[in-house]
Amino acid sequence: MIRLQAALPERYAAASPDELADMIAAAKQALGPRVLVLGHHYQRDEVMRWADARGDSFALSRLAADRHDAEFVVFCGVHFMAESADVLTDERQQVVLPDLNAGCSMADMADLDAVEEAWEVLGTVTDLDRVVPVTYMNSSAALKAFVGRHGGVVCTSSNARAVVTWAIGDRRSPGGTPHGDQVLFFPDQHLGRNTGFQLGYGADDMAVWDPRRARGGLDDATLKEASLLLWNGHCSVHQRFRPEHVAAFRQVHPGALVVVHPECAHDVVEVADLVGSTDFIIKAVADAPPGSVIGVATEIHLVERLATETPDKTVRSIDPLVCPCSTMYRIDAAHLAWVLEGLVGGEVRNRITVDEETAHWARIALERMLATV
Ligand code: 13P
Ligand code: SF4
Repeated sequence: MIRLQAALPERYAAASPDELADMIAAAKQALGPRVLVLGHHYQRDEVMRWADARGDSFALSRLAADRHDAEFVVFCGVHFMAESADVLTDERQQVVLPDLNAGCSMADMADLDAVEEAWEVLGTVTDLDRVVPVTYMNSSAALKAFVGRHGGVVCTSSNARAVVTWAIGDRRSPGGTPHGDQVLFFPDQHLGRNTGFQLGYGADDMAVWDPRRARGGLDDATLKEASLLLWNGHCSVHQRFRPEHVAAFRQVHPGALVVVHPECAHDVVEVADLVGSTDFIIKAVADAPPGSVIGVATEIHLVERLATETPDKTVRSIDPLVCPCSTMYRIDAAHLAWVLEGLVGGEVRNRITVDEETAHWARIALERMLATV
């Protein structure tokens, strides 16, 4: 993704938190239902307090699409989420990302050229009709369009299991008519691997495609035979969690429940009690009885918000040194005030658009996902 965000004008850069809050409140008031502010679960509180809806990436995009009256959708999240919202909203709606530098380092680990090259190499060893490309929601619209064009599908961390079952079947409960017998899964190797294990595939059925090496660093037999080819991508926030964090947390809090995100490495997932998406984690905390101690492995803003909003339970990150997602963190009250005041003055700042051809195929991949789960 190209990063273009210029420095903010002095009015915003030098404003105090209270001044920014006044600007945002006044702009939202002036815009009324014409604007919908969406907040991803990983956003900071100074932004989240202004969100008309909170949610995970897919839920928020769907919400934007359902709110036809909202002319402007201000997406407080990262670039791929704003793109998905643009794909799913109608042509009268405009999607805005308050800071163009809010990308996703994982999404950037797979680009269209590299994926097309992998596809071409696969085509030299196997019949591509048997290969189903699956892209995680955390990817550019260009990659969603690629999978749309090639009979593939998008997945999120909450539905990856159903999507991979649709693609190649569930080894633990065979049946149905899978759409192929090999998946090329990108960009997150961990979500792909955790999903493969959940469906009964073994370590020998999976191989990592390394885009920096010739032919992915794999021999032809592996390329042809692996049921899951996993892109060598990861989330720098979730990859930091280690099994030692789980052990240390349990030592301090015997009997604690440990809930981790599927972007964590498999050795962490193996020792956790529960694994699931951001929405799943929120529900797991809500469902735990009062007095529970819950150790969570995901982005720190969500964990801290859960801790504050669930005072009858103890909610902590399992890693005391966990970093925030630095790109989510780029969205702050100053950028939110800047885009909202722009809208009041008739200027759409930081609009995110996906060209019609790309949007068409990306929509097909997203709709396939919806039909699958
Ligand atoms: P969700 O799909 O749960 O919103 O997660 C997105 C993400 O970036 C996780 O790291
Ligand atoms: Fe991307 Fe990880 Fe940040 Fe999620 S937490 S937006 S996957 S870098």
